[in-house]
Amino acid sequence: MREISTSMWTRRRFGKAALAMSGVLASQLRRTAAQAPVDARVGVSGPDSLRAHAALRGMMYGAAVIPALLDVEGVAAGGSKDPYTLLVSSQTNILVAENAMKWAALRPSADSFDFAEADRLMRFAALSGQRVRGHNLCWHEALPAWFKATATTANARTLLTEHIQKVAGRYRNQIHSWDVVNEAVNPKDGRPDGLRASPWLELAGPDYIELAFKTAAAADPTAKLTYNDYDIELDTPEQSEKRGQVMLLIRRLKARNVPIQAVGVQSHLKADGPMPGTGLLQFIRDMAKIGIEVFITEMDVNTVGVGGAPELQDAAVANVYRDYLGKVLGEPNVSIALTWGITSAHTWLNESKEPWAKRSDGLRQRTLPFDDDMNATRAFRAIRDAIDATKHVTPVAPLVLGPAGRDPGGLYKPFPVQGSPTNESPASQPPKPATPPAGPF
Ligand code: XIL
Repeated sequence: MREISTSMWTRRRFGKAALAMSGVLASQLRRTAAQAPVDARVGVSGPDSLRAHAALRGMMYGAAVIPALLDVEGVAAGGSKDPYTLLVSSQTNILVAENAMKWAALRPSADSFDFAEADRLMRFAALSGQRVRGHNLCWHEALPAWFKATATTANARTLLTEHIQKVAGRYRNQIHSWDVVNEAVNPKDGRPDGLRASPWLELAGPDYIELAFKTAAAADPTAKLTYNDYDIELDTPEQSEKRGQVMLLIRRLKARNVPIQAVGVQSHLKADGPMPGTGLLQFIRDMAKIGIEVFITEMDVNTVGVGGAPELQDAAVANVYRDYLGKVLGEPNVSIALTWGITSAHTWLNESKEPWAKRSDGLRQRTLPFDDDMNATRAFRAIRDAIDATKHVTPVAPLVLGPAGRDPGGLYKPFPVQGSPTNESPASQPPKPATPPAGPF
């Protein structure tokens, strides 16, 4: 599979798979590993997968996915042969929709909803034994075309409330965590409270954030409600200031008893940029003190600033994953990391024409644990090593069961899941710690 295009993926049709998914997966991934041009011949399937390594440590590794590319029907029929589908189900135990749960995707018009793609993701995750992050309920981007002409100061709060009720309510008890508000801080806008001068702020007032979290808590009491933002990782003056403003926002919300359980640090990093330093670690520890978990929600490593040869890109990218995840996953309140995509065949960095994403040599970015051909890159090994190095054992909060007594959105805990291609047998469980881990997590 040397040439991968979106149309190929979407056109792919599946017969009734005769082979059990696990068998197909194992042979596919064995082939993938054997073809790996860059990395050592590291095993990537079954017990060698990111999913298995994460599960062994009570952690989650996940990726942003495009639901339309997932062969849900094949999985439901007992097995899929589609490589992207197999890769996603075998390597991740938590998923997030790259775009399918944003306003623009869900709201074709002011008074209608289209849940087809979002539902597709939920079904796939349930079949594959994965949790789902909801992304997102409130953002200044990805607003539908009708929004500008329709939203006013008179109706913005109602629009926001009803959207959250409907969307979070639809997936009640099935979502691991919701990015309730995305990217609401932007010190460059010059406001004393650091908030972004977004349409939501301008139309609904600065307490739209509080309104969104309270509405989400009522609509889905079991999701971990998350504030998600970017450019808060480094110790540069701009990012330090922004991180400080995010901290103040979280403290304001906590002081007002607003339901918020987590902060998402997007972690779009640069292969040639400065590495995150002590500021982020201090931030994570300050969050721990107030009972807030930190999720790495959208990690990728932009290679516009480094040489284009695959080995040059891969070495620089792997260093960033190793160093960054090595640091943050060492903190007890950080036990979830997602990359923004899983293969460089599908990453916004290769789709964008923006100068910050487009390589001047015209080569594609190799920014994720798998490359365009779905071979493991050196980042795969770096991520897995960082997961292995963590001291977590079972730090993730216990599952909250839905009304039917099951955990419809979860299943991340390694136990046999029918139809799951993963090799997460109970036998591979780590020994239970003698005493429960300390702390609020
Ligand atoms: C990006 C998607 O990857 C693109 O496909 C889309 O065109 C724009 O949005 N921060 C976020 C994500 O919170 O939702 C963004 O996703 C990337 C930056």
